[in-house]
Amino acid sequence: MLTAVTGTADHVRRNRAAWDRWAAEYAGPGLRLWAAPEPEWGIWNVAEEQAGVLPAELAGRDSIELGCGTGYVSAWLARRGARPVGLDNSAAQLATARQWQDRFGLRFPLVHASAEQAPFADGRFDLAISEYGASIWCDPYAWIPEAARLLRPGGQLIFLVNSALLMLTVPDAGDQPATERLLRPYFGMHRFEWPDDESVEFHLGHGDMIRLLRGCGLEVEDLVELRPEPGAETRYPFVTLDWARQWPCEEVWKARKSSQKRSA
Ligand SMILES: C[S@@+](CC[C@H](N)C(=O)[O-])C[C@H]1O[C@@H](n2cnc3c(N)ncnc32)[C@H](O)[C@@H]1O
Repeated sequence: MLTAVTGTADHVRRNRAAWDRWAAEYAGPGLRLWAAPEPEWGIWNVAEEQAGVLPAELAGRDSIELGCGTGYVSAWLARRGARPVGLDNSAAQLATARQWQDRFGLRFPLVHASAEQAPFADGRFDLAISEYGASIWCDPYAWIPEAARLLRPGGQLIFLVNSALLMLTVPDAGDQPATERLLRPYFGMHRFEWPDDESVEFHLGHGDMIRLLRGCGLEVEDLVELRPEPGAETRYPFVTLDWARQWPCEEVWKARKSSQKRSA
């Protein structure tokens, strides 16, 4: 494992400590997803066939997973012929990823670093992907420019996050589900800190996200709003199935780096 341990920003340090502490409870769910025959996404395990998150053609593609955690997304990419690298801020999460690599006999490089300062050259990857990794735990104004830098011209950025609507309706108490009321302002949405929790999350409104992506030379190709199937289950308490069947609680952004040089 390459250890670069980049990132001294307050939120990077706080999230590293939080994820080192939480890693043990994510090992089992990670193992189940490593073993899954087909990719399934987000807290409701929406099937890839329904969600259409991954590019059709992955064979021979260099991918980086930003905030790979236990590494199951990169394992799915490897099985589809890609050459993945998993990067994460937590040594404990990477230790689990390494353990599941050994269990499944599927090795790819794991890098201990912050996605806000990835230790790779410009244009090294065809695909940058994040499922609840850098996509919510890093400052978008730091990690999205960094992801754009890492991509080759024509490369794709795909990331899954809590929906903007969910972030407006979920109560401060983490064990309470999203309501049908707007509980906080939409304008200015960026950094979130929850009571009794040392971790820090980041969520942007749609206009800010589109402007940020475009400002980094990334054209938005799709915004996939995930809808769970009737009867779907989740272990997370922050949204009910009834809510998530009516409104999107998770969204997948897809953007592509321009293959042309931009004029000044
Ligand atoms: C919910 S996990 C998601 C990863 C993966 N989909 C999984 O569930 O195993 C969030 C991951 O983001 C990582 N993370 C948080 N801040 C990060 C940063 N600055 N750079 C890279 N990874 C980060 C955490 O260490 C954690 O492993």
